[in-house]
Amino acid sequence: MTSQEIRQKYLDFFKSKNHAIIPSASLIPENDPTTLFISAGMHPLVPFLMGEKHPQGNRLASVQKCIRTIDIDEVGNAYHHTFFEMLGNWSLGDYFKKQAIEWSFEFLTKYLDIPIERLAVSVFEGDENAHLDEESINIWKSVGIPESRIAKLSKEDNWWGPAGQTGPCGPDTEMFYWNDDKEPAPKDFDPKNTRWVEIWNDVFMEYNKTAEGEYEPLKQKNVDTGMGIERTLAVLNGLNDDYKTELFINQINKVEELSGKKYEESEEITKAMRIVADHIKASVFIMADDKNIVPSNLDQGYVVRRLIRRAIRYGRMLNIDKELWTREIARIVIKDYKETYPELENNKEFILNNLDEEEQKFKKTLEKGLREFEKGADAFVLFSTYGFPIEMTQELAKEKGIEIDIEKFNEQMKKHQELSRTASAGKFKSGLADDSEETKKLHTAAHLLLAALRKVLGENVIQKGSNITPERLRFDFSHNEKLTDEQKQEVEKLVNETIKEDLQVICEEMSLDQAKEQGAMGIFESKYGEKVKVYAIGGSSDAGSEPSFSREICAGPHVKHTGELGYFKITKEQSSSAGVRRIKAILE
Ligand code: ALA
Repeated sequence: MTSQEIRQKYLDFFKSKNHAIIPSASLIPENDPTTLFISAGMHPLVPFLMGEKHPQGNRLASVQKCIRTIDIDEVGNAYHHTFFEMLGNWSLGDYFKKQAIEWSFEFLTKYLDIPIERLAVSVFEGDENAHLDEESINIWKSVGIPESRIAKLSKEDNWWGPAGQTGPCGPDTEMFYWNDDKEPAPKDFDPKNTRWVEIWNDVFMEYNKTAEGEYEPLKQKNVDTGMGIERTLAVLNGLNDDYKTELFINQINKVEELSGKKYEESEEITKAMRIVADHIKASVFIMADDKNIVPSNLDQGYVVRRLIRRAIRYGRMLNIDKELWTREIARIVIKDYKETYPELENNKEFILNNLDEEEQKFKKTLEKGLREFEKGADAFVLFSTYGFPIEMTQELAKEKGIEIDIEKFNEQMKKHQELSRTASAGKFKSGLADDSEETKKLHTAAHLLLAALRKVLGENVIQKGSNITPERLRFDFSHNEKLTDEQKQEVEKLVNETIKEDLQVICEEMSLDQAKEQGAMGIFESKYGEKVKVYAIGGSSDAGSEPSFSREICAGPHVKHTGELGYFKITKEQSSSAGVRRIKAILE
């Protein structure tokens, strides 16, 4: 089975169960300061899981691009990936456990043709927040899963979410596949046996985790499911390694060619090749997003920088000595995925040029760092100033017969991590799950800001990203020059005039084509998306009436009248990346 067959089968199946197919959202979250990347299919849907109405209805399915960076240092085994695709289906307050489980079972056994003998499941065992999930146990039994194949596990295993620090979450039931063709699956399911591979997760999201760590009931009971394509593809093809599937093998072959080594030559080489393939793929996908993310020392850019540099370092270990080789792996990623994700081809030159540039920069840093190392620089200085991962310093030291004081390094690292944790703690106060009044107001102010920028600077201005906390709004937009003081004042004045006029904020549902026709701004990622929500501020879409001040395709929520916003003030205007400016603003 190919990856495209799995994607198509999944979407067709849920379409036949009356789900609307929604496109993958960008990897960079909109309006969510709690995380740098979209890490699950449900992540862009948080406002709708919290109770906002989705324009496509209450049954949705998608294939979502995801990045998980928590496990970055674990990448190297057969199943961990920084970038992966997640198949998911959702009920927004519609069906619940019975249908979710029955459909999962039907899809696995009838569409993927998995024999029931090779399936096992786990359910939540219960704790002080929620009880044992007997309902799921009974549903699994009713479709034919024997009791001996149903494990009851704790919150650590069978509770999912929230995606950030706060938001929708709940108990889940996970499905496992016996991935061994030589031996039949044992009668009893032992979740510790690694030949049982988790392939799908159905989460029953009925709780909202608050900033205080409480679990409060959500307005509605939702279903959120997730199946990783890479792993499913591997097991369905009888492979015990995702890197042997079509989603990785061409990259691995290229690394073999560049290094003159064989993938399975030794454990160390296998691991290094996996890291190279995983990290370059993830960097390519992040840079392919229309958000102009480039390697830098900040936020998403810093992740890209770390990924590229770590890939280069493992490339060195494999003795790849060619200059500018990462682009060769990137080209393969682009070729293999461009049918599904056209943004890769559209941004190809941008991606390849940035890889070249970062490779050159890292080479210079490496050379400088190596000179420091020769002079006897400390492992932590090499890490913090020159970006040398400790393993690399250790390898270099081994070559030279020098001892590294690893305890001292770990001690310094701990302090460093504590500091950065404190620094990022501020970012974790709110997120998509935050529909506080402050956030709502700033969100509406962001719409006014975009409309005002387009009036003052011209129609070339489009939104490149936004990030809202209850305290401030950060807004990135396309523009080549620094704003003059007059332009800033003009933008502020326009926004404040609109606030004074106390215009109505109206939400209308329409087709994407209709929204575009009316000149609504927004991110047109939609491939299959039919109906969208358009928030109009002032005026009306009726022919002959006053045009709106702002029209944007957006999930909401927003305030009802601009008069609620208070006084709008720009606190900072600066460059964000090439051709992109950033404004920070507050409401007083
Ligand atoms: N959101 C759930 C997961 O990521 C389905 O596993």
